[in-house]
This record gives sequence, structure tokens and C-alpha cells, in this order.
Amino acid sequence: MSTHETTQRERVRVFATGACEGFEKLRESLAGHPEVELVGASANVADGAAALAGGHLDAVLHATRSASLPADELAAIREHTRAPVLVVASSGSSRMLEEALDSEVADVLLLPQLVENVVFAIRKATHTTRQAHPAGGGRHGKIVTVFSPKGGTGKTVTATNLAAALAKFEQRKTLLLDLDLQFGDAAIMLGIEPEKTIYDLVVAPGELDTEKLAGYTTKHISGLDILPAPLRPEDAELVTEAKLGRLLEVARESYDCIVVDTSPFFHGPMLATLDRTDELLLLSSLDVPTLKNLRLALQTLELLSFPKQRIRIVLNRSNSKVGMKQNEVESALGMKVRFEVPSDRAVPLAVNRGKPVVLDEEGADVSRAIRSMAKNLFPVEEAAKKQRRLLPAFARS
Ligand SMILES: Nc1ncnc2c1ncn2[C@@H]1O[C@H](COP(=O)(O)OP(=O)(O)OP(=O)(O)O)[C@@H](O)[C@H]1O
Ligand SMILES: [Mg+2]
Repeated sequence: MSTHETTQRERVRVFATGACEGFEKLRESLAGHPEVELVGASANVADGAAALAGGHLDAVLHATRSASLPADELAAIREHTRAPVLVVASSGSSRMLEEALDSEVADVLLLPQLVENVVFAIRKATHTTRQAHPAGGGRHGKIVTVFSPKGGTGKTVTATNLAAALAKFEQRKTLLLDLDLQFGDAAIMLGIEPEKTIYDLVVAPGELDTEKLAGYTTKHISGLDILPAPLRPEDAELVTEAKLGRLLEVARESYDCIVVDTSPFFHGPMLATLDRTDELLLLSSLDVPTLKNLRLALQTLELLSFPKQRIRIVLNRSNSKVGMKQNEVESALGMKVRFEVPSDRAVPLAVNRGKPVVLDEEGADVSRAIRSMAKNLFPVEEAAKKQRRLLPAFARS
């Protein structure tokens, strides 16, 4: 394969766990391989939990000294990620290969192996997983998570308005998911009194699928569907990482966009969400405590191996005259501000009316800023643009 082709391909993100003879050498070779991004390694599964859950992995390589499949360790990995797992062993027996046939393990690699063979096996495993879980009806919704480590920065205002703008002005099938599980107020900001919440969905018996999900969402006048936070804070803990992971995967099959509102914490369900997040909107404002916490959050995201290119800094209340400039935010964070949302009296007015400002005051600067963010995050596909350009020509003929 030419280098050109190699650079065109996206590198597969792999995390390595466990140990066996020759595994360290293999890891070193993989770390230097152009098609692989070895995002991290841990000698045992528990130490790698955060990266496994939040690391956007394409595959996990798990090494074992045991002669049979390490069922407990594999189950522990499954608690954190759905990425395909390839087992690596130095003293494998035919028994392990036999066991692998009946298991969820994507492959068994007995060392020593040529690194190229290992890379091929990893690629094959990721490819097979994608084919086995095709996005239903051709959809593969994009997950946009709105986060800030500081309370009150405007997460819920941003998430509700972004979702409303996507549904109403971009004609996208949109789900707003309130993951501020204890004190979520996305529904109230939209003037909705929900009958069902995410809690009812996760405690309902039976497998979750797209039809079941549809039965628990509430439609807003903008066209978005909302799955609100539980009504009682104590119900939050039933929304486990595993349930949420499944929920997001099902939601992807029936929505173009899933906008997730969050609380200012990296709890289990948040890690499960990060693992599936395509765009992470990190909200900042022009104040020192928020910046301090954002820097810490960026460090945590790095520890979790969250891909930096998926982070977009949003500067809320960007026009506030508070003795701090946008470039100071950028140099403190070491990242450019991607979207600016001005402060506007129309926002609290709309919040108190239970209406998203993008609908309540379409012409306000804040509404324009959020609509442009929506457009930017979900650009009209080239094919659709082309079709639009061609339409007048057809009409003439
Ligand atoms: N751009 C803005 N202009 C004016 N007011 C704003 C703006 N953004 C947010 N606000 C106000 O700030 C308040 C807090 O915003 P919001 O509830 O979205 O923050 P949050 O980050 O979700 O807070 P929490 O961490 O408590 O969930 C809102 O009631 C809203 O009126
Ligand atoms: Mg909020």
C-alpha cells in the first residue's frame, strides 16, 4: 500500500490491556505503526476503565497469560466499551481458539506475530463490527454533547436551543437527551411537562429498540423529541452506564442528531456518552473560575483519551464587558474559540416563558449565533447541495 493511501485512512484507535510474553514488544511496534493510534495501555482492566469507557476506541487488545479465555477480564472490559476485543496470548492452546468460536471475542492472536498481521486483524475486527451493527434505515445520528465543568455556564440554554434550531430550521430529526440526571431542566426550558422520562425508559422491561424509544420521548413544537431527566434526583442512579450506552446506540439508528445536555461532572453515564460523542461542545465564559475548571476538564479529557479534534470551545456571553478578552480565553485553554454566543436579555425572558429563544425571538443575535452553530455542526451534504443546484436546470428543461 502506498503511503498516500495510508495517510488517507483514519487510524484505528486501540487500547491495550493485560500482559503476556511478547506483548510489550508488540505494543511498541503498534505505537509506531502509521495505521494505529495506540491511545493507552494498562496492565489490568480496572486501571484502564476511564480510557476504555471514554476513549472512543475502535478496538481493545487484551493480553492474557492464561491458557483459556479470561472470561472475567473480558466481562470487565465489556462493562466499559462495546469496541471489539482481540485476545493476545503467548501460550495459547487449541482450547482457547475453540472457546473463541463461541464467544464474543473478535479474534485470538498467538504471539509471536508480524505486526502487519496484527494490524490486519484489528482492521478486520473493526470492519466486521461496523457491518454487524449497521445504522438502521441508513441513519447514523451524530451525537453532540454540551458540557462545562462549571454550573450555570449556559449548557441547558445551548443544548435546548441547538436542538430546537436543528429540528425547526435544519429539518433534522433531533433528539434532546437530558443527562443532567439529578437536576435536569431541559424540559422546563422548553415548556414541556413530561409524562415519561429517561428513568421510565431504563426501568421498563424488555430489550430497547427504536420503537420502544419512540414510546418514551415527548415531541416539542419545534419538532424535536426530548427524553427528559428523571423527575426525582434519587432515580438518577438507575440510569447506568450500560443502559445509556445502549440507549445512545439505538437513538443513533432513528435520529440525525442527538443533542445531550449534561451536568458538570464526569460520572459513569457521562463517560459512556463521551465514548460515543462526535462533537463535544465545551462551554466557556469570560470568567476566571470557569477557565480554571475548563483547563482541568481538558486535562481529564486527555487522560480519558478523548480525541481533541472533536472538542469545540463555545464562548457563551461572548460580548460581556467583564475585563477579559476572547484571546485570553484561547491562550488559557490552548485552543481556539469555535463558536461565540452573545449575552442577550432575550434568553432569560425566553427561559421564563418556557420557549427556546431561537423560536421566541428569531431575529435576536443570540438566536442567529445558535442557528449558525447548528448549520455548522450539520452542514448540508455535498450531494444534497448538488441536487439543489441542479433543480433549476431540470425545471427549465
Ligand atoms: N447567552 C446568554 N445570554 C443571557 N443569559 C444567558 C445566556 N446563557 C445563559 N443565560 C442564563 O443563564 C442561566 C443559566 O443557564 P443554563 O441553565 O443554561 O446553565 P447550565 O450550564 O445548564 O447550568 P447548570 O449547571 O445549573 O445546569 C439561564 O437561566 C439563562 O437565563
Ligand atoms: Mg443545565
